[in-house]
Amino acid sequence: MAIVYDKEKSFFSIETQNTKYVFQVVEEEFLVHLYYGDKRGEVPEHKSKIVDFAPYYEKSRFNFLPDAYMQEYVGFDSGDLRTCSLRVKNADGNAVTVLKYRGYQVLEGRINLQGLPYAEGNETTETLEITLVDEHTKLEVKIYYTVFAKEDVISRYVRVTNYGEEAVTIEKCMSLLLDLPKDNYDMISFYGRNNRERQYQRNPLFVGQHNVYSRRGASSHEFNPFVILCDRETTQTEGDAYGFNFVFSGNFLDEVEVDALGKTRVQIGLGSENFNWLLEAGESFVSPEAVMSYSSEGLGKMTRNFHTFIREHILPEEPFTNRPVVLNTWEACFFDIDEDVMEKFAKAAAESGIDMLVMDDGWFGARNNDKAGLGDWYPNPNKFKNGLKSFVDKMKSYGLKFGIWVEPEMVNPDSDLYRTHPEWCIECPGREKMLSRDQWVLDMSNPEVIAYLKDMFTKTFAGIEIDYFKWDMNRHLCQVGSNYLPKERQGETAYRHILGVYELLEWFHKQFPNAMIETCSGGGGRYDLGMMKYGTMIWTSDMTDPHRRIRIQYSSMMGYPASTMSCHVSDHKACEDARELKYRCEVALGGALGYELHLPKSSEAMKERVKAQIASYRKYEDLILRGEYYSILNPYETNYSAYYYTNEDKDRILLSFLQDAPEERKEVVLSVIEAIESALYVDEISGKKFTGKELREGITVQSDDSSNNSRMWYLVKTHE
Ligand code: DGJ
Repeated sequence: MAIVYDKEKSFFSIETQNTKYVFQVVEEEFLVHLYYGDKRGEVPEHKSKIVDFAPYYEKSRFNFLPDAYMQEYVGFDSGDLRTCSLRVKNADGNAVTVLKYRGYQVLEGRINLQGLPYAEGNETTETLEITLVDEHTKLEVKIYYTVFAKEDVISRYVRVTNYGEEAVTIEKCMSLLLDLPKDNYDMISFYGRNNRERQYQRNPLFVGQHNVYSRRGASSHEFNPFVILCDRETTQTEGDAYGFNFVFSGNFLDEVEVDALGKTRVQIGLGSENFNWLLEAGESFVSPEAVMSYSSEGLGKMTRNFHTFIREHILPEEPFTNRPVVLNTWEACFFDIDEDVMEKFAKAAAESGIDMLVMDDGWFGARNNDKAGLGDWYPNPNKFKNGLKSFVDKMKSYGLKFGIWVEPEMVNPDSDLYRTHPEWCIECPGREKMLSRDQWVLDMSNPEVIAYLKDMFTKTFAGIEIDYFKWDMNRHLCQVGSNYLPKERQGETAYRHILGVYELLEWFHKQFPNAMIETCSGGGGRYDLGMMKYGTMIWTSDMTDPHRRIRIQYSSMMGYPASTMSCHVSDHKACEDARELKYRCEVALGGALGYELHLPKSSEAMKERVKAQIASYRKYEDLILRGEYYSILNPYETNYSAYYYTNEDKDRILLSFLQDAPEERKEVVLSVIEAIESALYVDEISGKKFTGKELREGITVQSDDSSNNSRMWYLVKTHE
């Protein structure tokens, strides 16, 4: 049993394989958090204390000072004057919510969140439901803890029900609150912009608020919802690390508040900006799910907890036995595609050992540049004279799988769709709509919009076997309003918009059950667990320069498994140089390998090299896509990235060294601490042999003054 209630002590204890989470019901009414950490750790006792200025109730006095104790979930203005989890504008106009404990239930498995992405349960999953009530307003809040014991992950979300007689408005709703007993953590977060997603930053926390967030209607390039709190001394292999993430793709708030009494509050949820929700009497609101994982063995273990958790509980089933190696047309052609061009790509792709040709932007409507066509999802008749079906059949006759690009959430002003339905855009009537990449956002909260898109895609792809959709999204939401929703529900637009996106993604899975989805938002602008529920992988970034990529991939790997990272080798001119092609490929081998080269213009020698790269990838792709990941060198702190993937038995290891910038020659030592000490390994790339002891002590590699120095070792245990 992962969840235990100790009646005598009024303790709730949640155990995973290596961790323990404990809280207590104090004075029969209030939840006080006691401990989250190593399973073997000692749980501190709740002790009554006196804190000046802290409000209290007469009955409980110093035994429960909301402002001074660690809590589980906090209503606004409830005597806890730190940041709250839930703010509701009550029917009487104020916003006080005081949540008191009313009972619990332990459920087998988990409750599925209708319309939202969530982590799937399995036979060992258990859920703790705690009921809290504000007696004055008759607001009920159920908080849920779902336990994924094997992966050391606990998820949290809430259900808010209005049992009052009048409507109220939810103005802020967080899914997870964790109070920690110290004030000297480091925070690791991932900031960026288009082409520079998920830049790693590690900063010491100090008293005050340290938030990452999105108000852009997408989880965004600017901040990723994944954050880590760790001790100042925590390394990859040692020390405490707490990781947090949100299973959602729209606006979010990761809130960290260090108080002056020496504690740190972490909250993950929707926040309050561009979100409020009218809750009529008798209605419920369910928040998206947030997840957390603790490791006492450094950042590396926390990373691997999330990797396994995401693979086992979030990602959709892979539709193909082997992940196809993709050739995507975007960087080679941009919008200049038609049947003839595509045929040249198909021929060159087949000759180079590629599995799947993906036709990117430019195939539909009047899409000759980014100013027109979005919304008109039928093939451009000038480019595909015999229609889409005969074209796709031709592509497949080369022995390739076929993928296609779509951007369903958007519309260009210059499109048939906009001309017919100008009212379907997100807008605030009476204001000029702002453009971004010459496009507007469709109001996906409107069921008519969803129905139109379903109908259009059904007709366009009828009878055509599409193996893969690249689902893009190329602008953020601003001046958010809906012509469909009533005035009092305008604050729900951004949230309902994402629910509409999920509905359409879900429909794609049902409509095209054999197809794989790669999601994208101008590269990795929606690199989140919500999207991962539907898309097998995500286009990591539009930045394909290998040096920039090294950093983006390093940070992405801290929270997400390599199988989600779509990594392409690009720039056919640069890649005619064999060493450059090798370097770019070895960078791309951090994740799911693909290409974005103009193969029809490439030399025969280069195509042969690509073919050889794909053949090698086949030998160890399982390690990359499903293995355990260990990071050795951080490119934000050194001039290199080095890491390895290994299997459970540790008898196969794929080690990579990537130098980021030229430097004077020097020796760099890479220790493979997971190698079996007593074993002998052969590197199948160089033929050299290494004992496990040698690998653990470290392989020495030379850095140099070139811009493309990389090495890989494919180490396989041998008996000779
Ligand atoms: C942005 C994506 O990141 C690119 O890979 C490409 O698909 C373009 N959109 C197409 O417009």
